[in-house]
Amino acid sequence: METIEVKNLVKVFNGVRAVDDISFDVSEGEIFGLLGPNGAGKTTTTLILATLLKPTSGEARVAGYDVAKEPAKVRRHIGVVFQETTLDLDLTARENLDFHARLYGLSKLERERRIREALELVDLHDKADVVVKKFSGGMKRKLEIARGLIHFPAVLFLDEPTTGLDAHTRRRIWKYILDAKGDTTVVLTTHYIEEAEKLCDRVAVMNRGRIIALDKPGNLIKAVGRDVIILEGENLEKLAEKIDFRFALEGDKMRIYVERGDEILPEIIELSSSVGTKIRSAIIRRPSLEDVFIQLTVRPVRQ
Ligand SMILES: Nc1ncnc2c1ncn2[C@@H]1O[C@H](COP(=O)(O)OP(=O)(O)O)[C@@H](O)[C@H]1O
Ligand SMILES: [Mg+2]
Repeated sequence: METIEVKNLVKVFNGVRAVDDISFDVSEGEIFGLLGPNGAGKTTTTLILATLLKPTSGEARVAGYDVAKEPAKVRRHIGVVFQETTLDLDLTARENLDFHARLYGLSKLERERRIREALELVDLHDKADVVVKKFSGGMKRKLEIARGLIHFPAVLFLDEPTTGLDAHTRRRIWKYILDAKGDTTVVLTTHYIEEAEKLCDRVAVMNRGRIIALDKPGNLIKAVGRDVIILEGENLEKLAEKIDFRFALEGDKMRIYVERGDEILPEIIELSSSVGTKIRSAIIRRPSLEDVFIQLTVRPVRQ
């Protein structure tokens, strides 16, 4: 049995299909990413799986329980960290965690032990008795992750855990997420490609409520081709009409997906000058997950 099973899940808000018939499974101990631009349906999916929103149709099971029919059982097995902070700023870090642990009915002794472990995991043990008001944005996020882990959930949902944080703090939080991994299955939403690439065992790329690709980050990258040629210049649309490679054009920037960039580039430069496209710069590099994402989500892509 998979830890999470999602089948034909749909959520409609006033006629808008925020989640539009998605299906996927997540195995125990996996870090599964939902990657996509704002409005893709990531948060809605997460809220449904965390039993905080009812699906319009379709089914989802988390830790063996149906999210719509057995929400209380699901809740006992999950931890959630959402974008908006729900910490009580007037309480200390320890008090915030203790309040949360009480909700899960942990004994006093158990609470003390788990609070200590959770604070150690995110490196906040020496700030246990500081009022959260005095915490930086990064510290609050870490405390929320600690809180999400306090009852050793089978599944942890993290909705954009590092949005708005600086690069250094983001990296540190990645480390805590990787450290928490093991018995805990993690579902993480993000619009940072790098985050998905670094943390996730598999990534579902979402756009307009749909899953448009689902694989290991490495496989998604491989599917794009060996090289990406990135051109900047003028009248690129004229070149776009003529080339036979897969490409994505965004204003004065064009990505061309090829097997051998070094062999193809001279050909492309020559073609450019013959059609009246002015190239300002050309770079060949290995594709990143961002290239995959752009190829999948930005029009026009011609096969
Ligand atoms: N409570 C709601 N009422 C109406 N529309 C909503 C609501 N929540 C989300 N939406 C819409 O559903 C779509 C998906 O939103 P969301 O799941 O928040 O995307 P993401 O988390 O990927 O940015 C968006 O078009 C959004 O405007
Ligand atoms: Mg969101």
